Amino acid sequence: MIQDLRQDYRAAELTEKEADRNPIKQFEKWFTAALAAQLYEPNVMTLATADKTGKPNARIVLLKGFDEHGFSFYTNYLSTKGKELKRNPQACLVFFWAELERQVRIEGKVEKLDKEASERYFHSRPQASQISAIASPQSQIINDRLSLEKKVEELTATYTDKTIPKPAHWGGYIVKPTAIEFWQGRPNRLHDRIRYDFVNGKWQTNRLAP
Ligand SMILES: Cc1cc2nc3c(=O)[nH]c(=O)nc-3n(C[C@H](O)[C@H](O)[C@H](O)COP(=O)(O)O)c2cc1C
Repeated sequence: MIQDLRQDYRAAELTEKEADRNPIKQFEKWFTAALAAQLYEPNVMTLATADKTGKPNARIVLLKGFDEHGFSFYTNYLSTKGKELKRNPQACLVFFWAELERQVRIEGKVEKLDKEASERYFHSRPQASQISAIASPQSQIINDRLSLEKKVEELTATYTDKTIPKPAHWGGYIVKPTAIEFWQGRPNRLHDRIRYDFVNGKWQTNRLAP
């Protein structure tokens, strides 16, 4: 029965002493641990956005980089998320690393990455992925799968031995964090939660009740 599914979390703890003063460094520690644990796609994250009326929306995207400036991912600027971010450039990112019993939540303001960064990443992708990005009008209704596959075939023929140009509507976003929360599962649902808020140019930390 679904109501009997229950895990107790005992893998680790997160103390104020152990948490880095800088949440990006703390994220790096946990991301490195997720890589070391060989988790399946540790860079998978839920991206939550909201439209102009406040109606929420969420989907999975892949984290493609992070540093002190923020967390970046790539997508189609004309997709549903792209339209929502244009009108309301705020987002929340959530990572869940089940095997490590960890969740990270990031709130922030969203900006487009500059064209050069998007170009660089676009051209680093496998050629077939570049073609798909051109062929797919992401989030729009299409007639059938066949028409999409035909378009891919045509584009593949057009760009044989040629550089595929990055479409203007495809590129990266960066989420510039204003708050980051680290959640470590603990026994009996008494989990550890450390939240960092960026206030007056400094990161403040607080422990939250589970
Ligand atoms: C594991 C996984 C990784 C994904 N990575 C991306 C990504 O990096 N960029 C992207 O645009 N969509 C990605 N998607 C697809 C999105 O979840 C979503 O279907 C798509 O972006 C359209 O969302 P939207 O209509 O809200 O704009 C991924 C889906 C999954 C399940």
